[in-house]
Amino acid sequence: MNSVPLPRAAGNDPAEPPVPGTAAMRQPLARARHLPGTIYASPDILAREQERIFLTRWLCVGRVEELPEVGDYLTMRIANQPIIVVRDGAERILALRNRCVHRGVEVAYGQGNAREFTCPYHAWTFDLAGHLTGAGYMKGAEWDRDTAHLPAVRLETWRGWMFVNFDADAAPLAEWMRAFEAPLAYYRSDEAVLGDKLVVEVKTNWKFVVENLLDVYHVGTLHANTFGKFMRLLRDDLPFDALPNGGLSLRFGSRPMSADGSQSFPILPWLENDLGFAAKANIFPNMNLSIRADSMRMWVMWPLAVDRTQIISYLLVSKDAAAQPDYPARLEAYRDYMRSIVAEDRTAVESLQRNATAADFTPGPMSHLEAPIHHVLNHYLDAMQL
Ligand code: FES
Ligand SMILES: [Fe+2]
Repeated sequence: MNSVPLPRAAGNDPAEPPVPGTAAMRQPLARARHLPGTIYASPDILAREQERIFLTRWLCVGRVEELPEVGDYLTMRIANQPIIVVRDGAERILALRNRCVHRGVEVAYGQGNAREFTCPYHAWTFDLAGHLTGAGYMKGAEWDRDTAHLPAVRLETWRGWMFVNFDADAAPLAEWMRAFEAPLAYYRSDEAVLGDKLVVEVKTNWKFVVENLLDVYHVGTLHANTFGKFMRLLRDDLPFDALPNGGLSLRFGSRPMSADGSQSFPILPWLENDLGFAAKANIFPNMNLSIRADSMRMWVMWPLAVDRTQIISYLLVSKDAAAQPDYPARLEAYRDYMRSIVAEDRTAVESLQRNATAADFTPGPMSHLEAPIHHVLNHYLDAMQL
């Protein structure tokens, strides 16, 4: 892999970290400082993140129940790499590069159900497993048609979640997720089903959103009028389980996500005796899984540009809840509530992008309630070799 050049201040000592200010995050929490604005605003940093993080880690692309039928597919662009996730004719869920073998145009868009994929440019066709099945007006061209197919991307599943990895040498997903098995055992996300998928775009760097979802410090203030009033820390020193590879798991007390803290959906059967239970887990780099008594949410943050992020929030509810006739009405109320929370967070994370990236801004110290952010960003610096 080519390494991406980094911004380097003139006269910088080569022994110093290449981005001035990052060493302060390496300090123990009490002496640490938030990361400098360059980390959130530099296109070189984003290119390096794509190369060192997004193209080497397992990344969640959705739930298996999004593709129930043969031919069901969805498309995504990950680190500028377009992919198709599809259930093929043999009922396997596959990930393929969405890149025609002729000139490279994407052969599928959005999501839906297809019998085959037809490139919109010159109509070459591919079956659901990506093999070329048709290429018109190619008489006389000398090429190996039998080996022409949309290249496969590794796809593995963990408890109903589909993950892809562009790195052929990466350890299997199960190995990667092993440290999460015990802390996430009570989530039982394989026994719940996808109840909704919310997609929003925010004008901020993807890491500000990741940090925001780990930031319990802001909940009592920014969300004082929504779920902040129901949240309580189990201890003032915010203990959490630091897991390998930038993972972490955190337990606290809260109520279901609704305006009055009452349940939005029927309680997950395995949490019936634990209504005040709440927890979240960070799966590096861009995934945050949280649970309340009635539902779970997986938040996935995709960088679109240094200052634009797509957030996909997957809601999981019990199978029973999703099948009930009043589910659409419950979901509508839940969506309204989530939109109000996202609006609160949007104000803060977009403001961070405007101000915390200014050249004359010096990042401030960290609260002990920001320890999860400190843990994850230290792993980020390791992964980036900064
Ligand atoms: S680019 Fe796909 S058929 Fe030409
Ligand atoms: Fe928030």
